[in-house]
Amino acid sequence: MGACARYAALAQANNRERATLLKSVEPQESSATPAGPSRKFSVAPMMDWTDRHCRYFMRRLSRHALLYSEMVTTGALLHGDAERFLRHDDSEQPLALQLGGSDPRALAACAGMAERTGYREVNLNAGCPSDRVQNNMIGACLMAHPQLVAECVKAMRDAVGIDVTVKHRIGINGRESYGELCDFVGQVHEAGCRTFIVHARIAILEGLSPKENREIPPLRHEVAARLKQDFPELEIILNGGIKTLDECAAHLQCFDGVMLGREAYHNPYLLAEVDRRFFACATPPISRAQALAEMRPYVQRHLAEGGAMHHVTRHVLGLAQAFRGARRFRQLLSVDIHKCSDPLALLDQAIALLEGH
Ligand SMILES: Cc1cc2nc3c(=O)[nH]c(=O)nc-3n(C[C@H](O)[C@H](O)[C@H](O)COP(=O)(O)O)c2cc1C
Repeated sequence: MGACARYAALAQANNRERATLLKSVEPQESSATPAGPSRKFSVAPMMDWTDRHCRYFMRRLSRHALLYSEMVTTGALLHGDAERFLRHDDSEQPLALQLGGSDPRALAACAGMAERTGYREVNLNAGCPSDRVQNNMIGACLMAHPQLVAECVKAMRDAVGIDVTVKHRIGINGRESYGELCDFVGQVHEAGCRTFIVHARIAILEGLSPKENREIPPLRHEVAARLKQDFPELEIILNGGIKTLDECAAHLQCFDGVMLGREAYHNPYLLAEVDRRFFACATPPISRAQALAEMRPYVQRHLAEGGAMHHVTRHVLGLAQAFRGARRFRQLLSVDIHKCSDPLALLDQAIALLEGH
């Protein structure tokens, strides 16, 4: 069944069918695990940023970077508009869905939904410090409960054949020691997780906003490196503060993969070199203008469905940086866009400004 048909099936499921759907993913024997996606280079899950439009755009720039969804809570998937949260275009693949939750049965059910709708990996968020999610036992607070995370991972692994991974911090305040980090990773590993995405910064669970907690306290890549040394059999992906492909190459000497968040979003054209640099791809990188031109039919479809162009183009603003016309490009797509009657003509103007850069 193609992705579109799967969405349609999910969308049409009534409550009873949903209940059957949930039952069908109750823990069972794992099927043989197919080869998972490469995690050598990935773009981080980012709420409000890595939505389907953003991922479609990023995929124009790199065929191989693994793209993560925004975090979706189990509550939103099981009781909300699952079709909307899971929606993606087949061409966004390889794609991972990040889940927020701590109830093993609910996570198993949602992992099943991810698998059925075509995601190649399901990731559990154990790194978000926001108190909004903490109150629901979601995110970084889970690092204080390794046994529970292990149960969650086991339930998810039992339910699906796709990879189940965990994204976490190097600790949380009050539980900052390396020993406690090893205890967390060790217990979750025993439950069957072999891929850990390590945001190499302690999460502060009170007193800092999530935004502040992406800058403070300082990054400690060396702690993640020690983890890789002590657990060589695990796939350890480094995340936090990586800004250039040269830095990625250096980290790949030690780690199995790198994950970029803010830099990939603010400076997306860096993705255009990723395939050549890390995936031995011989095709020359796409130009900025071509990447945006490839978005035109997509924008057209979105408009035809009743959407607004800025839903899509807000994610492309970083394409133009430090060259003549860059400021005009951003003005077109962030200011003029809200008062124009012919969005596609405006998009054509924006594409023209990228020509030759
Ligand atoms: C706007 C924004 C939203 C984020 N949302 C999530 C999220 O939903 N799940 C998650 O695990 N991390 C989230 N993060 C954290 C990133 O995934 C990443 O761990 C963090 O930004 C550090 O990587 P970087 O220094 O490369 O940006 C978010 C970060 C930003 C900037």
